[in-house]
Amino acid sequence: MNAIWSIINGEFIPVQEARIPVSDLAIQRGYGIFDFFKTVNENPVFLEDHLDRFFNSANAMQLPVRYSRDELKQMLSVLIQKNQIPDSGIKITLTGGASEDGYTIGQPNLVITQSPLSYNPAIFEKGLKLMTFEFQRQLPAIKTIDYLQAILLQKSILEHKADDVLYYSQGELRECPRTNIFLVMADDTILTPEQNVLPGITRKQLLGFKGFNFRAGSIPFEKLWEAKEIFISSTTKLILPVLEVDGQKTGNGEPGTVTRELWKKLRDLEGI
Ligand SMILES: Cc1ncc(COP(=O)(O)O)c(C=O)c1O
Repeated sequence: MNAIWSIINGEFIPVQEARIPVSDLAIQRGYGIFDFFKTVNENPVFLEDHLDRFFNSANAMQLPVRYSRDELKQMLSVLIQKNQIPDSGIKITLTGGASEDGYTIGQPNLVITQSPLSYNPAIFEKGLKLMTFEFQRQLPAIKTIDYLQAILLQKSILEHKADDVLYYSQGELRECPRTNIFLVMADDTILTPEQNVLPGITRKQLLGFKGFNFRAGSIPFEKLWEAKEIFISSTTKLILPVLEVDGQKTGNGEPGTVTRELWKKLRDLEGI
């Protein structure tokens, strides 16, 4: 089998041999950022938006990127050609870098990996069961590598027979650890939290769809019980209906018509 190539600081290396120093702040203190996008038929999906967010995250975390946007795009294009994985996920990680005192930001390491990622539309009908949990991501607008709370909650999610967790804080809805949330109300307005969440790229595409009444703002927790449809959005999952929250059914417990319509529009846009 052919090796899958990764890129470490501009150098192409088989992923099995890809390394960064143990003194890196990502390992020592969990300091770093990343972004993640898809390719469909070798074409990157929403690449410019992902690069915008990547550079914003890097800048916000005071991590210099040693490559220009064009250089990065060139590298990604060569990676896609070399690996020949038509449908994939590409992760660009920028670490805090090797740090002598284990605390000061060093020269960041840029790690790019690609792995197969195909979309199975059947997951839509199955939908999701969420459990709620009071938590605020520390730096919500930045895509940091910190998923501590989310990973720690995995066992509890299983015990609650849920699929994922929905964070809320100060009585308001936030997001799931890897997806944004939307509530379709009785009058067809579609609410999504605006503050203290990651600006998801899929969320951004949805908010741009014409003919829907999206409203981004603060959403009291209780709105969950009034919504006729709830769904989540992300690069990997596209749109998934939320059919249950804390053991309580959403609407009639089946994927709703607005959710389905948006899902179809998003799939058309992504060519999936
Ligand atoms: C905290 C958080 N919210 C939302 C999202 C969804 O963002 P996107 O649509 O860009 O995948 C992610 C993606 O991983 C995330 O980590």
